[in-house]
Amino acid sequence: MSTFLSEEKTVQLLRELEPVAEAELNRHLAVAKEWFPHEYVPWSQGSDFDGVLGGDAWAVEQSKIPDVARTALIVNLLTEDNLPSYHFEIAKFFGRDGAWGTWVHRWTAEEGRHGVAIRDYLTVTRAVDPVALERARMVHMGTGYEAAYDDMLHTLAYVSFQELATRISHRNTGSASGEPVCEQLLARIATDENLHMIFYRNLLAAAFEREPNMTMRAVADIVQNFQMPGHSIEGFTRKSVQIANAGIYDLRQHRDQVLVPVLRQWKVWDVTGLDEEGEKARFELDQFLAELETAASRFEQRRDERAARVAARV
Ligand SMILES: [Fe+2]
Ligand SMILES: [Fe+2]
Repeated sequence: MSTFLSEEKTVQLLRELEPVAEAELNRHLAVAKEWFPHEYVPWSQGSDFDGVLGGDAWAVEQSKIPDVARTALIVNLLTEDNLPSYHFEIAKFFGRDGAWGTWVHRWTAEEGRHGVAIRDYLTVTRAVDPVALERARMVHMGTGYEAAYDDMLHTLAYVSFQELATRISHRNTGSASGEPVCEQLLARIATDENLHMIFYRNLLAAAFEREPNMTMRAVADIVQNFQMPGHSIEGFTRKSVQIANAGIYDLRQHRDQVLVPVLRQWKVWDVTGLDEEGEKARFELDQFLAELETAASRFEQRRDERAARVAARV
């Protein structure tokens, strides 16, 4: 049995889910609040840079943001910057017509706001090196982003987790910045990411009712192979270790605040009538979560031990 829906079945499922997409889109439009990036940027703190305007070059002492928060902000912004590739992926799988198409464009417009807001904030406050940032953006967007699975259900499962993961990561980056305005901005963005997660999560819940076995397979694949959307950023592994050590996004949060709540919402453990393949997928899911629990506990233990050693030295 194939792990992917056939093209014919995909078209059929998208059509069946169209009324759900419409209802979710309307719910989203009713609750999403309009907001403006410029209101979160302290323009009065801005000054000219070197180069064309002959101002001061960026220097690390100008940044009021701690090292690790700076790293996280750069990762979060570069992730948002890759929007053209994400748009391509979701437009490819969800289409550009009807409620699905309206969602794809609305979602893209909302995500576009995130990159604009974070970049303006970071540039005006001189929080990060604008030259290094621009060069990193060129490299990252030059690499693009490609979904790991060429399939609509896998994409829907991926974005359900990914939106929640970015919500947690933005929110915790804001706290780590120690700057109230930065924190407010990232909390505002995190609210958007949460609403995005709800849209995708509810669509996937509807897919579970119609195609339980294939949906379970897609969910199991995504959970076992999940990578953050910014994983192709240069030096991502090193950066993600720093981010995890600072408690901005680590294995414990990934398991307990991202994977498990979404899986519970889908009631994956209550789905009945699965065939052999569906049961196998759910079994893999259980096994993986148990392994992740062990890995998360081990990570926390090592981090605590390291912190205790540092404290003992002081
Ligand atoms: Fe975003
Ligand atoms: Fe989002």
